[in-house]
Amino acid sequence: MSARLPLVVANWKLNGNRDLLAEMLPALTELDASQVETVLCTPFVYLGDEFGDVQKGAQSVASQSSGAFTGEVSAQMLREVGCHYVIIGHSERRAMFGETDNVVAQKVKATLDAGLIPIVCVGETEQERESDATLDVITKQVKSVMDILPSFSDSLVFAYEPVWAIGTGKTATCEQAEEVHYNIRQILMSYNHELAMSTRILYGGSVKPENSKELFSSENIDGGLIGGASLDVESFTAICENAVA
Ligand code: 13P
Repeated sequence: MSARLPLVVANWKLNGNRDLLAEMLPALTELDASQVETVLCTPFVYLGDEFGDVQKGAQSVASQSSGAFTGEVSAQMLREVGCHYVIIGHSERRAMFGETDNVVAQKVKATLDAGLIPIVCVGETEQERESDATLDVITKQVKSVMDILPSFSDSLVFAYEPVWAIGTGKTATCEQAEEVHYNIRQILMSYNHELAMSTRILYGGSVKPENSKELFSSENIDGGLIGGASLDVESFTAICENAVA
């Protein structure tokens, strides 16, 4: 890991409840925030709760700021309840809720405009990896976001989540993950060298306490986006601790 402050993000997906929140918050408060930044992305309904010193994140956001969009939540609303981060373009949203590269890009823009930090997810399917299309897929996903922004924002965070590694127990090897992370940074460098060097790129996909230390030791892996293991206080805090250099 480099001089970039490690970032570990819990993505609870459609899981968790107030009891888990009450258990998780004090444990995360004990972590040394100068060594590892942590974010808890719960379902929307809990984001109005008091998180104390723990940073809040949403799992999605509307691309519009207001209007007749039943069921949607705007970036401005998220900001109002104290959110700092928003996960955008998770593969589950792309696959199950029809989020295209263009929609993802619009959501990133809306998030930045509201002063929040987007965590932009990219990743290839198993079939795309097997047909050697991984880097093409990643390049298209990253560029579709970067090309719509008026300038490179130093608030951007990317997350590489190979679709075949999510919730499957199959983790990318360090070499596979590092290759993609390195390439994402190269793409970002073509927009702004200095900001690309300070942009954090997280890895997600079956990260556990047992494999996190090795993954986080890779040069271009700056932390993790954690699904299943973020629902267990001990596992999640162990992963956060493993991100400390
Ligand atoms: P798992 O850690 O359960 O594989 O999920 C990863 C993920 O999708 C995080 O956003």
